[in-house]
Amino acid sequence: MPELALETIPPNEPALIARLVEQNLALLDTSSRPVRRGQHPKHHGCVHGELVVGELEPRLRHGLFATPGRYAAVIRFSNGASLDDRKGDAHGMALKLFNVPGQKLLEPCDTHDFILIDHPVFFARDCAGYVELFDALLNAKQSILPKLAFFLPRMLAEMGHVYLSHLHKHPQEMAIMRAMIGKQPASPMASTYWSTTPYLLGPHAVRWSLVPRTAMLKPVAPSDSPDKLRLALAQQLAGSDFEFDFMAQQQTNAESMPIEDPRTEWDDKESPWVKLATLRLPAQKPDTPELMEFCENLSFNVWRCLPQHRPLGGVNRARRAIYESITRRRHELNGTAMREPRLEEFQRLWQA
Ligand code: HEM
Repeated sequence: MPELALETIPPNEPALIARLVEQNLALLDTSSRPVRRGQHPKHHGCVHGELVVGELEPRLRHGLFATPGRYAAVIRFSNGASLDDRKGDAHGMALKLFNVPGQKLLEPCDTHDFILIDHPVFFARDCAGYVELFDALLNAKQSILPKLAFFLPRMLAEMGHVYLSHLHKHPQEMAIMRAMIGKQPASPMASTYWSTTPYLLGPHAVRWSLVPRTAMLKPVAPSDSPDKLRLALAQQLAGSDFEFDFMAQQQTNAESMPIEDPRTEWDDKESPWVKLATLRLPAQKPDTPELMEFCENLSFNVWRCLPQHRPLGGVNRARRAIYESITRRRHELNGTAMREPRLEEFQRLWQA
């Protein structure tokens, strides 16, 4: 049986990561200002909260979870691709903690990031799989064929091209992608979010998840607005607190719970999820123009973390350089400073 928490790095991975950076920069839409993120371009609110860590059993006491503590947080809820919330999509929840002591892997800073989506698995197996998919996307954008299909919306025609040139040869990737981008939640607070990729919890490999306390959900007023998720988030937090449970699932079998393939769900009967902390979101108004702009200018990166929570696996190894280069490019084009925020400047916005 292979060792637990063990990474296997293919010799050609650095070249594949360099190609992924090029592809992501080439796909970044720089036609309007502000230039938005290449993925997860639209957010629904810029929420403040607190991650409360209690006394845990000894095997879980590592890094952020070593001792009881409280960390102020900013949370960005986003759509994976669409600017219209009425359309099916994947959805993101990015969490940045403030005033976390200790050296981080990405850079010296006091913040600590987690990035999750509302689907338990990711569609790309590794860097090689993702390079092929992005090549198909770039070819679709440059090809004449989608332009000939003038009767279809451009994005649909391009996706048709990607299907014909790539996806039909990768049925598992396609099935995950379809399930991922088909989600239509009534509210960003109604979904469970997963890291999909593994991370260290001290000596263990784990996946993270944020699970909403659904008993605290208010009924959502029906809406046909393209911003219906922003409206639902604001409605949920108007006058009421909300909570998520921060969970981890430990790798206990290196074969059935692989490190290098985030397409495989880890069986929760083989290794049940355990709670590490509570994410408390007090009643607030999370979508003032100032707060929306604050979250627009943030940069999240899974490598902005303590070494005890190092990202694992090829997809995570690639994300370090990709997120750094895309966020640098969009900040340059937008003329905004790329730096980690301080809690006081965020506090001033939600206390205003
Ligand atoms: C190699 C694989 C991946 C690539 C190429 C990629 C690419 C990107 C890029 C370019 C951004 C925008 C960065 C910025 O402008 O600051 C982004 C953001 C994001 N990605 Fe990924 N990603 C990958 C894997 C994943 C995975 C596995 C997840 C699952 C949790 C994920 C979830 C997100 C989310 C939620 C955001 C928005 C973060 C925010 O609010 O700023 N990505 N991704």
